[in-house]
Amino acid sequence: MTTAPDPVKLMKQAVAQTAAARVTSGAVVGLGTGSTTALMIQCLGERLAKGELANIKGVPTSFQASVLAKQYGIPLVTLDEVEKIDLAIDGADEVDPQKNLIKGGGAAHTREKVVDALADLFIVVVDSSKLVDQLGSTFPVPVEVLPMALTPVMRAVTRLGGEPQLRMGVKKDGPVITDQGNMVLDVKFAAIPDPAELEKTLNNIPGVVENGIFVNLAKVILVGELKDGQPSV
Ligand code: 5RP
Repeated sequence: MTTAPDPVKLMKQAVAQTAAARVTSGAVVGLGTGSTTALMIQCLGERLAKGELANIKGVPTSFQASVLAKQYGIPLVTLDEVEKIDLAIDGADEVDPQKNLIKGGGAAHTREKVVDALADLFIVVVDSSKLVDQLGSTFPVPVEVLPMALTPVMRAVTRLGGEPQLRMGVKKDGPVITDQGNMVLDVKFAAIPDPAELEKTLNNIPGVVENGIFVNLAKVILVGELKDGQPSV
């Protein structure tokens, strides 16, 4: 029995391929985190193996990205070793019409913001389900928190009108721990009319390391869609 291909995976594959095709030889590439960028990293590895690309260097945004990059033969560098990042390719959980994002579904938003913000060109790869009219419509805001500050931060975000929930691991037997050793609160807001303001306000709470609102960073949004059952970008 053959099963029909997952339409979301088809959209992610299409957008991953399109983004990977934008990378040129010699580029320093920020490697995002998540299922869409995992496919993009695979495409980059395939282009290297075929000889279409040479001499690229990856700056990983997470442990996951560095493991995948090594698996697909992409040499890695740290931010101490490069003068600049030519382009970063990363996924998102929500994208608004102004190209503002919510990220952090993979708990990697702190490193992602560092890498994506340093890139000359930040390309976002999403399937069409991620497009929203206003941030916060479907996804809570991930907030990375120092473990010792968890309770005061929860109180502070509640005072701002948010509903915080500690992110638990898949087996629900313990909290998700980030690559930095911190925890993640997923904070639901009824509406986010001013993402720039909320980004700053959240980061001003003592104990907050970084939040998943990305304002004015993304330059290009590549959206995978299904047209007549066929994936396109
Ligand atoms: C990780 C992220 C991801 O880019 C985001 O969650 C999208 O992931 P996916 O491509 O699996 O839908 O921000 O922290």
